[in-house]
Amino acid sequence: MTFSSGPAELTLDPKHQPEETPAPSLTELTLEPVHCRPELMDACADLINDQWPRSRASRLHSLGQSSDAFPLCLLLLSPHPTAEASPIVVGHARLSRVLDRPQSLLVETVVVARALRGRGFGRRLMEGLEDFARVRGFRRLHLTTHDQLYFYAHLGYHLGEPVQGLVFSSQQLPTSLLRAFPRAPTPHPPCMVPSLTAQAAGPSSPKGPPLPPPLPQPLTTLPPRSAGPFPQNLLETQYQDLRGCPIFWMEKDI
Ligand SMILES: CC(C)(COP(=O)(O)OP(=O)(O)OC[C@H]1O[C@@H](n2cnc3c(N)ncnc32)[C@H](O)[C@@H]1OP(=O)(O)O)[C@@H](O)C(=O)NCCC(=O)NCCS
Repeated sequence: MTFSSGPAELTLDPKHQPEETPAPSLTELTLEPVHCRPELMDACADLINDQWPRSRASRLHSLGQSSDAFPLCLLLLSPHPTAEASPIVVGHARLSRVLDRPQSLLVETVVVARALRGRGFGRRLMEGLEDFARVRGFRRLHLTTHDQLYFYAHLGYHLGEPVQGLVFSSQQLPTSLLRAFPRAPTPHPPCMVPSLTAQAAGPSSPKGPPLPPPLPQPLTTLPPRSAGPFPQNLLETQYQDLRGCPIFWMEKDI
């Protein structure tokens, strides 16, 4: 689907006009859990896979686990210009409960449709999910990022400690069982981020395909008890994901 952003993008030759859908308006957006809109699951899988390619089956499986008991996948939706058609999936974010922090949620797989970035939809998605979490009694959000730390810092997130996201709802897997898994013995050495400005250029950077989203910490390890000798700052981090890529932990009180 292509979106028009204004008359400046139109060519004069009507034969060369691309088939366009008017860009969604910020005022008409809604945020809904994907399990309340199962008919939009395919479109959501396409949106996420456009950023982080993965098998469709596994993406749909992951989306299919969304429930009110968490993890929960939220869709940022815009009404389709044709009233009868399904809404346009503008963005996605996944929320999970956090071990030992009943008032926290872990935010993952934050993505806005490629053609719609830079127009305020990412802010709307983050502010919307903060409202969503707050009205359900949560008070803090945590996330990891490879290369969007300035976006999140701009929205009020600051560097924080690692947490353990729960891939199952706490009703399905008792916390006492999760606590029985061993803790990671020591923090990783710090990893320098080669070039923040180059990485912040995002998926269109000519340096290669975008990094996949940070993998959640495995259930068999927990974050180190202390931050260790290496402070996390905006240029270096002591944390890595399972692929060894540097990640920054961020959090925000809501
Ligand atoms: C990151 C992402 C969700 C941002 O969405 P977006 O729609 O482009 O962001 P917005 O246009 O809403 O930007 C919101 C604000 O953040 C600012 N901003 C956006 N990217 C920024 C960056 N890299 N550094 C600093 N500020 C940034 C904007 O200037 C804007 O400021 P304003 O609201 O005060 O005017 C989007 O670019 C995306 O999907 N990227 C690919 C997937 C990804 O990397 N997700 C993060 C995984 S951790």
